[in-house]
Amino acid sequence: MCGIIGYVGSENALPIIVKGLKKLEYRGYDSAGIALFGAAGFDVVKQKGTLSALEERLAGSTLSSFMGIGHTRWATHGEPSDINSHPHVGSKGRIAVVHNGIIENYRQLRERLTKRGIDFVSQTDSEVIPQLAEYYYDGDMLDTVVKVTNALGGSYALGFMCVDEPGTLIAVKKDNPLIIGVSEHGNFIASDVPAVLRHTNKVYYLDDAEIAVLTKDGVRFYNQDKDPVTKTPETVTWSVDSAEKGGWPHFMLKEIMEQPKIMRDTIRAAAEQAYLPNPGAAAGGLDVANFDKLVITACGSAYNAGVVAKYVFERLCRIPVEVELASEFRYKDPIVDERTLVILVSQSGETADTIAAMREAKSKGAVTLSIVNVVGSTISKEADHCLMTLAGPEIAVATTKAFSAQLVVLYTLAVGFAVRLGKLTPEQGQGMLEEIESLPEKTETILEQVDAIQKYASECIVYKSIFFIGRNIDYAIAMEGSLKLKEISYIHSEAYAGGELKHGTISLVEENTLVVAIGGCERLHGKIMSNIEQVISRGAKVLFIGNSREDDMGGKLSFVAIPKVNELFSPSLSVIVLQLFSYYVAANKGLDIDKPRNLAKSVTVE
Ligand code: AGP
Ligand code: GLU
Repeated sequence: MCGIIGYVGSENALPIIVKGLKKLEYRGYDSAGIALFGAAGFDVVKQKGTLSALEERLAGSTLSSFMGIGHTRWATHGEPSDINSHPHVGSKGRIAVVHNGIIENYRQLRERLTKRGIDFVSQTDSEVIPQLAEYYYDGDMLDTVVKVTNALGGSYALGFMCVDEPGTLIAVKKDNPLIIGVSEHGNFIASDVPAVLRHTNKVYYLDDAEIAVLTKDGVRFYNQDKDPVTKTPETVTWSVDSAEKGGWPHFMLKEIMEQPKIMRDTIRAAAEQAYLPNPGAAAGGLDVANFDKLVITACGSAYNAGVVAKYVFERLCRIPVEVELASEFRYKDPIVDERTLVILVSQSGETADTIAAMREAKSKGAVTLSIVNVVGSTISKEADHCLMTLAGPEIAVATTKAFSAQLVVLYTLAVGFAVRLGKLTPEQGQGMLEEIESLPEKTETILEQVDAIQKYASECIVYKSIFFIGRNIDYAIAMEGSLKLKEISYIHSEAYAGGELKHGTISLVEENTLVVAIGGCERLHGKIMSNIEQVISRGAKVLFIGNSREDDMGGKLSFVAIPKVNELFSPSLSVIVLQLFSYYVAANKGLDIDKPRNLAKSVTVE
């Protein structure tokens, strides 16, 4: 969590850092702060609250410097407060640090330093870092950073400034992301690419334990022995506009509307990587025939994409598929070996639990394949094979377009695997691919119904609890609908398999309960309609998302139509309605949709 930015160059660091933080705000937003290198030590401004509160404090500021660091926080240790905000400065006032991650041995370090007379002012784990750095510092910051990182346990991405080394910014990371951007006017450290895009698309992805030393003229990299390391920069293809709101009220709505395009781009790339010229040979020539089972592991929405994919892989490939929450998989001593393909799904490629699940799978000999959106991210680099989703930067905390991109990659992969395994003929595979290729256009027709969905959603803010039901693959997508609603509207909701309601949950259904029923699976239309009858007879109102509706059940059943498509791919269409529904419920409640309370986009801590 949390966003870090640092700049050293020929321009004033203050506006550059504040604008950079705005691009990272989706990573954490309970407090923010900056430290500028000043004539007499650091100029530090820290403020509890969202970034706009810091901006207000800085309004009219005459502060100016060629170097500085900034942070937008998602607190793990110590409440959000001015004092706990980053940057933290050691008690001698010589070293300033921004930190993303958790220092697991901070108590021991703090105790040791306190015994040596060092006073701490915050409740954070992070403050031990500048205190330790000042304790070790003997005129060589690179050496100090090596000593500090040797002493730290846990995870970190760090930016350091030292008053005794003007013009030098130092960065290091372990298990949390950090990139280095290089531009004509200066150089950057940042948690993510959008923070530097307006200045440069040339970035280095820092690896664990590498140290970057930045000056205004260049960047040098070192290993923990202080030997120079040669690295090659990558050119990011994301446009500056793709990380801007561009007139939309929220990033989430912009990202929902981008879905036809990003689905088209991703299907084209996935077909090239996972289907053509050898169906089933995913990037790097992976052969599904080598595996007895597939395990899909991920968190949150990416996990839900995995649940959808289980239905698709099992139906098309007749191969057993397990779907596991990465946070559970990593600690359960999973039964995987070299005959298991473990698929990691992640937008950010930096989710701590998914990274740990990947490492656990690899340590047991399983082959890993990642499906990731962020180029250069840990999961994209560390997995044995990787397929990229081409969703572009996703800024809203609630994922929409990256989720849709994950689905189409998973479908394409499943079709490729099925052809490779002889469960589909190449002609049947081609037919399936054409169905997948029809999804962007069908999505467009759903987006055209936005006004009707908005109107319906505006009437739903009164509900205290909303159930999402579906059967088979519709149940899988109901889980995503429920998560989306909870995340941004703060309305309690649960997803149930339609057939399961009567085994307990139906006792919660009463007058004025809303049930969202999904019926993309035509084969089970009669079954979901029976479940709808059951809840309506107990007083519920129903929103039905499906291909057709026979009647409105005395005005109790509202309906949003989705175009027909092979049922296995229908989640891609129903989810568009679910996203718009959640978005407009939250918008009508006047909530901060892009930055829902307590959440952060990239969960890089446990
Ligand atoms: C989705 O709307 C959430 N914000 C969250 O569940 C997310 O999908 C999850 O944290 C996984 O993130 P990742 O895809 O970056 O790994
Ligand atoms: N653990 C640190 C804190 O609570 C950093 C959290 C973060 O990564 O935002 O301040």
